[in-house]
Amino acid sequence: MSNSTTNWKKTSWRDHPVLQQPKWPDETQLSAVLESIGQLPPLVFAGEIRDLKASLAQAVHGEAFLLQGGDCSEEFSRCTAPNIRDTLKVLLQMAVILTYAGGKPVVKVGRIAGQYAKPRSSDTEMVNGVELPSYRGDMANSVEPELEARIPNPDRLLQGYNMSAATLNLLRAFTKGGFGALHRVQAWNQEFVKQSPMGRSYERLARQISQALDFMQTIGIDVESPQLKQAQFFTSHEALFLGYEEALTREDSLDGGWYDCSGHMLWIGDRTRQIDGAHIEFLRGVLNPLGMKVGPKHEIDDILAIIERLNPENEAGRMTLIARFGARDIEKYLPPLIRAVKREGLNVVWSCDPMHANIRKAESGHKTRSFDDILSELHCFFELHWAEGTVPGGVHFELTGDNVTECTGGARQLADDQLGLNYLTTCDPRLNAEQSLEMAFRIAEMIRS
Ligand code: PEP
Ligand code: CO
Repeated sequence: MSNSTTNWKKTSWRDHPVLQQPKWPDETQLSAVLESIGQLPPLVFAGEIRDLKASLAQAVHGEAFLLQGGDCSEEFSRCTAPNIRDTLKVLLQMAVILTYAGGKPVVKVGRIAGQYAKPRSSDTEMVNGVELPSYRGDMANSVEPELEARIPNPDRLLQGYNMSAATLNLLRAFTKGGFGALHRVQAWNQEFVKQSPMGRSYERLARQISQALDFMQTIGIDVESPQLKQAQFFTSHEALFLGYEEALTREDSLDGGWYDCSGHMLWIGDRTRQIDGAHIEFLRGVLNPLGMKVGPKHEIDDILAIIERLNPENEAGRMTLIARFGARDIEKYLPPLIRAVKREGLNVVWSCDPMHANIRKAESGHKTRSFDDILSELHCFFELHWAEGTVPGGVHFELTGDNVTECTGGARQLADDQLGLNYLTTCDPRLNAEQSLEMAFRIAEMIRS
C-alpha cells in the first residue's frame, strides 16, 4: 500500500532519468500549466480504480478476461460524439462475443480519454524531405508537418485534460444511460453478422447469444436491471508525460493512498520501463492497476525486478504484463518469460498486444499490420499459455469504430493498394470496426468453453 511505499512522493520521479518527454520550450509556462491542472478535479475516482483492480484480480486466476483497446493515439480534432460512440460500441460488441464464448465476465478498458502522449523512436522525423521534431501526441504538439506546429506547447496538456474530461463524460452517459444495454449490443452484432462476408460462420454463435438473452427474459430476469442495462467501462492510457500524471495524482480520503486520477489503468511503454528510470519511480507509488509492455528486447531478470518494484506485495490485479513479441517471435520469447513469472509465483494478468511487433511498411509508405499476423500472434499466445498451464488473461488492440483502411486483410481482404482509401491514424494502424468484430469472433473460436 502507498502508506508503506518507502521514500516515494508524487514528485520523486524528478530525481530519476526520464525518457520520452517533449522538449518544452518554456519551463515557466510548463510549470504554470501543470499547477493549474493540479487544481482541477480528478478525472476518475479512487473507488472506481479499486473496482477495476478487483476485476483484474479475477483475470489473474482466469475468472475474468481483459479486453483493452482503442486508438494508438487519440486526436483532439476527433474528440467528437460519433467517434467516441463508435469506439465504445465496437468494444462493447467485442465484449459480448468474448463473454459468451469464454463464459466469464469481460473487463472492458478503453485506450481512451487520455491516450494523447506517444513515445517515438527518434526525436526528429523526415516529412517530405524536411527534418522536423517528431510528433509526440496531441498533448505535446501537432501532427501537422510544419516546424512551428511541431514545437511542444504546454497549453496542450490542459487541452488534453479538457478533452479527456469531455470524452469521459460522454462515456459515462452512454454506459449508464442505456446505450450499452446488453440486448442492444447483441442486436448490433446480428447486424454485423448479416453484413459481413464472413458473417455466416459467426451466425451460430450470434444466434446462441440471442437465445440465451431471450431465455433470460422468458424466465423473468429483468432486462431493465442495471446489470443488463448498464455497462462497466474503464479508461486507460500510457502514463508517459510524468508532469501531467503527477498533477492528477491525488491522495484518497478513504484509504489515504495515492491514485493517479488521469485514468483508471495506466501502462508503461516498452521504451520507458528502465528499473531506475522516472516512469517506474512514479508508478510504483500510485495504487492504480498498471500495465507493462514487454517486447523482444528485454532481460527476464529485469522484468522480474520491475514487477517486484511495482508490486512488492504481489497484489493480484495490480500488474498486467502486455506481451508484444510479434507473430514470428512470440514462440521464442513468451515461454521463458511465462516460466520465470510462474517460478517466482508472481500474480499478473497475462495480456497479448498482437499489434506493436507486427508493423510493416507497405510499398505506398503506409505503416500497416495484417489481420493474419495479428491473429497468428494471438493464437500462439493462447496455445503457449495452455501448454504452460498458465492463464491467458486478456488482449490489447489498437482499433477504432471507424471504417478506416489501416490494417490489411480480414473478411474483405483489404489489400496494400487500398490502404490510402481511408488511412486516418496519426500513429499506428488500427483495426476498423468490422475487422475488430471479426477478431472477436476468431478469438471466441479459440476460447470457447
Ligand atoms: C502503444 O501502445 O501505442 C505503444 C507505443 O506501444 P509499445 O510501448 O508497446 O511500443
Ligand atoms: Co501504437
